[in-house]
Amino acid sequence: MSSREAIRQRIEELRERIRYHDYRYYALDDPEISDAEYDQLFRELKELEKAHPEFASPDSPTARIGFPPLEAFETFEHPLPMLSLENAMDEGEMVEFHQRVLKLLGTSEPVVYTAEPKIDGLAVEILYENGRLVRAGTRGDGYRGEDVTPNVKTIRAIPWTLYAPPDGPPIPSAMTVRCEVYMNRRDFHALNRRREADGEPAFANPRNAAAGSLRQLDSSITAQRPLKAFCYGIGVLEGPVFETQWEILGALKLWGLPVNPLSRLCEGLEAALGYYRELEARRPELPYEVDGVVYKVNRLDWQRKLGEKTRSPRWAIAFKFRAHQAVTRVRDIQVQVGRTGVLTPVAHLEPVSLAGVVIRRATLHNMDEIERKDIRIGDEVVVQRAGDVIPEVVRPIVEKRDGSERPFEMPTRCPACGGSVVRLSGEAFHRCMNRNCPAQIEGAIRHFAGREAMNIEGLGKQIIHLLVERGMVTTPADLYRLTEADLLKLPGFAEKSARNLIQAIQKTRHPELASFLYALGIPLVGTYLATVLADRFKSFQALRSARYEDLTAVEGIGDKVADSIRRYFENEDNVRFIQALFDAGVRPKESAVDASLQAMDDFWKGKTVVLTGSLSSMTRDEATERLRKAGAHVASSVSGKTDVVVVGENPGSKLQKAKALGVAVMDEETFLKHLP
Ligand code: IVH
Repeated sequence: MSSREAIRQRIEELRERIRYHDYRYYALDDPEISDAEYDQLFRELKELEKAHPEFASPDSPTARIGFPPLEAFETFEHPLPMLSLENAMDEGEMVEFHQRVLKLLGTSEPVVYTAEPKIDGLAVEILYENGRLVRAGTRGDGYRGEDVTPNVKTIRAIPWTLYAPPDGPPIPSAMTVRCEVYMNRRDFHALNRRREADGEPAFANPRNAAAGSLRQLDSSITAQRPLKAFCYGIGVLEGPVFETQWEILGALKLWGLPVNPLSRLCEGLEAALGYYRELEARRPELPYEVDGVVYKVNRLDWQRKLGEKTRSPRWAIAFKFRAHQAVTRVRDIQVQVGRTGVLTPVAHLEPVSLAGVVIRRATLHNMDEIERKDIRIGDEVVVQRAGDVIPEVVRPIVEKRDGSERPFEMPTRCPACGGSVVRLSGEAFHRCMNRNCPAQIEGAIRHFAGREAMNIEGLGKQIIHLLVERGMVTTPADLYRLTEADLLKLPGFAEKSARNLIQAIQKTRHPELASFLYALGIPLVGTYLATVLADRFKSFQALRSARYEDLTAVEGIGDKVADSIRRYFENEDNVRFIQALFDAGVRPKESAVDASLQAMDDFWKGKTVVLTGSLSSMTRDEATERLRKAGAHVASSVSGKTDVVVVGENPGSKLQKAKALGVAVMDEETFLKHLP
């Protein structure tokens, strides 16, 4: 064999091996070789490819960093079955449960229960070995679920390594932790708004959103979803011994796992029922959906004594909250046009009282949802408020139909402007394509003036409607040109109220950068990303001129978002819109870049930094030396303790790991700016 052929074969072999180890590391998180050995393979391949460019290949691991998504989930076998819970639907059933416990225990001592909010998400089991997160799987049928390890590792709340508190319980050599993965209501609504703007179908509720996000073959998608978790129990346990469920919850917390802070100990039935009433009253103010309370006999010896039935333990019960449901009739289905032109069908209902609130309307999301539930105009329907403020139509009562019900059809013309309505291929949504549609303009202005955007006080829906209807405002920039005299032409305005509103508008001419970015309504940029972008770029100009690579280098900004931001700033309408805002005197604040540079002396102090890839301005040793001098600790591998990863040319696997862990990533240019 010629030596050239031998080299080609070696290159191929290296690529294969690196791919395999990437898979072990990223997808399975089960590396067979150390980071150093991996780096050695990578370096050898890079050198050979450099010396023999004729063998270069676009799909070499050196050219393509990252890891292809899984093709299918593997099975996750639960070491101990994950049982489910029996439900109590009313206080009577709780009394029965308590009586049964007393009888089976045959004790005269009071029974203490833990009371834990039952979060409405999906159950996951996570295996930790010697404090390291090894594997995680969904509950599935209780015996077998799906292995979703890479996805669970993107959940910030879940530590990759348990924390060993000095005086706390020792870290178990093996342990499975059970938890509920969920999404906050607010995050759920924001996600749905983003999906809507993106033409993707909305999730019906936070539980579906959490489940859909966790069951992604591409964990980088999961990483962008705001998933959270609360741990509530242990399956397998080797090492420490506990006597009560309360101790277990305490230990989980000490080890750094999230435990619901609303959990309590309740002595006896009365206390347990009291907790239920209290939590039910607090339900609307909680950031997440709670569908009841889980009670567990606190003493583990008593739990063992009570034992289990086939599917559920005798020592625990879920006392469910009443779903606030009622029956009413769909009078009509009308269409609302949002600021992006998306048409949302809304059910207009015969007013019905649900848990003290009169419900008149409920969103039906989109055409697919209406067809899936088969909701027709005239139907009697079950409506529900699931702790949430937005009511939903659960299902039609088909038996009550008399043939007079009419299926809903999406209008072919926009109800607001008469413009044509289009459903783009692959989108769940119908859109009005007229950019000058008054409903879109109103929506855009409402968004712009909203509390989380420019926060223009006193500029409500009604006034916006009048301003748009009379053609006084066609873009948010027009607001800043309004005068008191203009407002006085509108019904309901007097001199004082006109002056107040003009002042309120003018007062917002120098918004925080994050609020301004959010106000622009860049697709996919919600309040959270707006803050991230403002923190990173500091000035509007810097963001506007950021290249695609500058954007994707920011933690939390993926390809899709970067693309959306670039496209937004390249679009001529948007350029004109921004110019109009600037012409009207709007100037977002810039955080003092210079001041932050002066503070650079302190920037690195105490930070753990990892370097990856080659820097063009200095050698790695030099960079390490300068960082050390500035007070940083330079580490060789990325972990949850890393504060910053500095990325040069051809970064290695560390960049991927940093992204997966949510560690801040800094490019060379920024790094140089930050060096003292
Ligand atoms: S204990 C044997 N505790 O409710 C005990 N479950 O059917 C089994 N859930 O999907 C579960 N919060 O994930 C327990 N504090 C809590 C819980 C909880 C939510 C979920 C659980 C499962 C369902 C039980």
